[in-house]
Amino acid sequence: MKNYITHHPWKIIEEGYRPEYNRISESIFSLGNGKFGQRGNFEEYFSGDSLQGNYLGGVYYPDKTRVGWWKNGYPEYFAKVLNAPDWTGIRIKIDGQELDPHKLKLIDFRRELDMQNGHFSKIYKAEFPDGKQIKIHSTRMLSIVNDELGAIKYSITPLNFSAPTEILLPINGDIKNEDANYDEHFWDEIEKSASARAPYLITETRKTHFRACYAMHYSLEVDGTPQSLTQFDSIEETKYIAHRLNVKLDEKKTTTIYKYAAVVTSRDHKNSDLKTVASEVLAYAKSKGFCTILDEQKAAWKEKWNHGDIAIEGDTAAQQGIRYNIFQLNQTYTGQDERLNIGPKGFTGEKYGGSTYWDTEAYLLPFYLSTSEPDVARNLLIYRFKHLQKAIENAEKLGFTNGAALYPMVTMNGEECHNEWEITFEEIHRNGAIAYAIFSYIRYTGDKRYLADYGLEVLIGISRFWAQRVNYSEDKQKYVMLGVTGPNEYENNVNNNWYTLKMAQWTMQYTMEAINYVKQTIPEEWQRIVTKSNFVESDEISNWKRICENLYFPYDQKREVFLQQDGFLDKELKPVSNIPAEETPINKHWSWDRILRSCYIKQADVLQGLYFFEDQYEKETIKRNYDFYEPMTVHESSLSACIHSIMAAKLGDEKRSYEFYLSASRLDLDDYNSDSDEGLHVTSMGGTWMSIVQGFGGMRIKNNMLSFNPFMPEKWKSFSFKINFRGHLLNIVIDKDNVNIHNDADEPLKVLLFDKTQTIEANDKITVDMNCQNK
Ligand code: BGC
Repeated sequence: MKNYITHHPWKIIEEGYRPEYNRISESIFSLGNGKFGQRGNFEEYFSGDSLQGNYLGGVYYPDKTRVGWWKNGYPEYFAKVLNAPDWTGIRIKIDGQELDPHKLKLIDFRRELDMQNGHFSKIYKAEFPDGKQIKIHSTRMLSIVNDELGAIKYSITPLNFSAPTEILLPINGDIKNEDANYDEHFWDEIEKSASARAPYLITETRKTHFRACYAMHYSLEVDGTPQSLTQFDSIEETKYIAHRLNVKLDEKKTTTIYKYAAVVTSRDHKNSDLKTVASEVLAYAKSKGFCTILDEQKAAWKEKWNHGDIAIEGDTAAQQGIRYNIFQLNQTYTGQDERLNIGPKGFTGEKYGGSTYWDTEAYLLPFYLSTSEPDVARNLLIYRFKHLQKAIENAEKLGFTNGAALYPMVTMNGEECHNEWEITFEEIHRNGAIAYAIFSYIRYTGDKRYLADYGLEVLIGISRFWAQRVNYSEDKQKYVMLGVTGPNEYENNVNNNWYTLKMAQWTMQYTMEAINYVKQTIPEEWQRIVTKSNFVESDEISNWKRICENLYFPYDQKREVFLQQDGFLDKELKPVSNIPAEETPINKHWSWDRILRSCYIKQADVLQGLYFFEDQYEKETIKRNYDFYEPMTVHESSLSACIHSIMAAKLGDEKRSYEFYLSASRLDLDDYNSDSDEGLHVTSMGGTWMSIVQGFGGMRIKNNMLSFNPFMPEKWKSFSFKINFRGHLLNIVIDKDNVNIHNDADEPLKVLLFDKTQTIEANDKITVDMNCQNK
């Protein structure tokens, strides 16, 4: 764990340059606008350890699969989030000496991410070996107003000298992925011109043929006075263009460079239009100027915070942690493009490839549902609807028939690209999360029409898969599910994973309910779906019913707990406290074989099921299972803490709930797992939000109403969260004495607070004493 980020409610601040943490800081200071993003790399030439990273949403490369032993059914490729051309470079040579922050003495170095306003800045003084000192101040943003525009303001002030200076402004497309399987370059150059009015570079990905056009415009000022730029050299090299300006820096005078980049791709425009669109983006930048673009950025972020802020009084570290998570979630996904999804690392690193895991449905959907307009979350669902055909083909490759759909574990375009058999073929519970997301979306928004328009076809495909994935055991006289991996990836190829069985049964039941609903309310839509999916109602429904009624669930009669899988009780059952501290995390210290044979659990498994379906179980049942499994859980996935935090809150263990929350909330800022250098844990950020809203706020949907059962973490004075529920913007403020709910809408709203119905009038609030709770 590191502790070098200064605590501040709205800013992420690093004081002092620590080369050994540079990659971590690059991750932490990442920027994104939903369409493209980048790590917080230096604009300057930088010779220290760095992971250069620029990423374009939805632009990927199918890197040839690399495995030890090929298994039939493996996907041919692993989709990589591509490292894309870098437009941010601003290279300075003073009197022939390169400004390389890694090589120079840096004074008062500070990096700062302004989360409230959406920009990243860097300020420092550098001293050259000959004693020359300069001051640098840069501010960078990726516009969320015009999401094809990036802008940098870069100021240089010589403190004790005047000297001829070279300023190089490149767009560099000669980049590689660190994680390339065969060390290949993934981009080809298509066209470039450094001498055009707006210098540009167009590159194209190999195999997938995505084109990206980067064009730049820049201007210069000295002490606020614009300079005319008639003298520059145009440089063109392979996959690279640049302008070189030769200027004279005068002592104590500030020279400011404004560099704007248009970043446009063939995902959004025709190849033939790319240059024109890029010029339009730059014309927009020129007409507005940096200050206006920055003001627009601030206003747009203000709007986002108005809808989704969480404020914590009395604990700045916690406040910074949660705002950072919300900020990064909003940078990663804006919901404007239903073809995009949320990669576990967002735009902050290469690890995990692909853009979509079950993480989206299980851990991220709740955040977007509650803090954005409903179409944002809806687009996450439609993404899967659009991949239904691919999911059916994916299942066919594995031998399933009749429109059974198996959604991929990892994907970019709907095709599976994960290639470890125990996950690709066996971690099929992901299918259940996709069905559950449809249910959650409708429960939250009330938008039942979604079933007829999109959801039901997906549910039918998934239910068909489950019905074929089980088999009847003559021995048990029950349906069983063999050879699976549950969410706990520290067990592979197990029989009858309770969680997966539960998801399968629930999906089939929910699909039958959904069919009834659509059939009765919009019969013509039902007929369309029947024809489209060749649904044979009499056979399929009776088959699903039979399976649901006769599905086997492993259970321990003695302890009265659901068993994670068959044979779980044969293991040596010892709590995590038995593992010597120096052997944790076990995934770094133990052989895989030892891990698989142990009882230790990577992340919520049975408990994930009890979290999803808590309404179906008595509190005592949930507690028994929690008390049995949690002590054996090593929480070695960043997805683990949030579920446990919410469950602990539900069970009244406020202290544990808070502890779990803490480990997740500053996971990246404090580099808890020593892996933030590889990129941020975006999924865990959604989980942290859930810990506060569902854990401490106790928010649920019950009887078609919002319901709250909050508690106050001891360390805090108060906390509040904003949510959007069916057109009502609510601010829920909780302190030691009261719960206040403000209804910022022109309609009244009924909510459940401590299980009692309360009406909050339009544009009004209610206040309820914390002690009124029915504990
Ligand atoms: C977790 C999976 C998750 C993946 C990507 C793994 O470590 O076990 O549940 O989908 O990371 O976040």
